[in-house]
Amino acid sequence: MRIAIVGNGKMGKLVSALAVERGHSIHTVVDSSDNEGGRALTRERLSGAEVAIEFTRPDAVVTNLERLIALGIPTVTGTTGWTEALPRISALLEEQKSALLHAPNFSVGVHLFLHTARELARRCRGHPEFDDSIVEEHHAAKLDAPSGTALLLQRQLTAEDPSRRFPITSVRVGAVPGTHTLTYNGPYETITLSHVARSRQTFAAGALAAAEWLPGRTGIFTFEDMLFGETV
Ligand SMILES: NC(=O)c1ccc[n+]([C@@H]2O[C@H](COP(=O)([O-])OP(=O)(O)OC[C@H]3O[C@@H](n4cnc5c(N)ncnc54)[C@H](OP(=O)(O)O)[C@@H]3O)[C@@H](O)[C@H]2O)c1
Repeated sequence: MRIAIVGNGKMGKLVSALAVERGHSIHTVVDSSDNEGGRALTRERLSGAEVAIEFTRPDAVVTNLERLIALGIPTVTGTTGWTEALPRISALLEEQKSALLHAPNFSVGVHLFLHTARELARRCRGHPEFDDSIVEEHHAAKLDAPSGTALLLQRQLTAEDPSRRFPITSVRVGAVPGTHTLTYNGPYETITLSHVARSRQTFAAGALAAAEWLPGRTGIFTFEDMLFGETV
């Protein structure tokens, strides 16, 4: 596949390297130098790209998505911190009959963790003696807090057990790629469920798998749609 990379930071670089390793070609790399307001995302520059993979920043992603959708380029984005714009982006996709797959976390393990966490939340309904909490840890340079994954976990868990709030504590430290822990604290015992990403490579592999899956589809998808054929 010919892939356009939008955002040449830690994730953009990892995805490019993995894509080449897997026999894909990099059609273009759009970095921040000439893309203020998405102006580098033109028909000429993107012509021939079969899919775009976008990893930028919360303040750049929405404009980038608007441009890519308008050009009809199937797009995978892992950028976090823009969920408030989702209804507008969904409407645009519907209008343009284009395709977007978005996920705050492209690790397969995190999605297995989410399934298990939902099951635990179902089992803990009706046990008010257990206090619920979520802690997420990420590297010090992460811009948004709480993490998109922690918010997704919280949303899914409150849907399972509306009597709880699942408050999130965010820790920003060192070079941690991403750790999420759900805890139920009882008077005499503690249940913890954790997912620890040991390398960003897991996110790059998932984003690339999504980019291989998306072309030919129309609409808005999550990584869970791709992995399990469902959105929770
Ligand atoms: N979904 C997942 O699995 C997953 C995994 C890891 C990270 N993330 C998220 O993905 C995003 C990127 O993470 P990262 O670790 O790659 O961050 P990063 O290393 O800071 O890279 C972001 C890059 O985007 C560039 N950029 C900013 N505005 C741009 C624009 N308008 N057009 C093109 N490029 C632009 C930045 O360039 P400058 O430095 O020149 O501004 C920077 O190189 C974050 O939101 C992060 O939370 C998601």
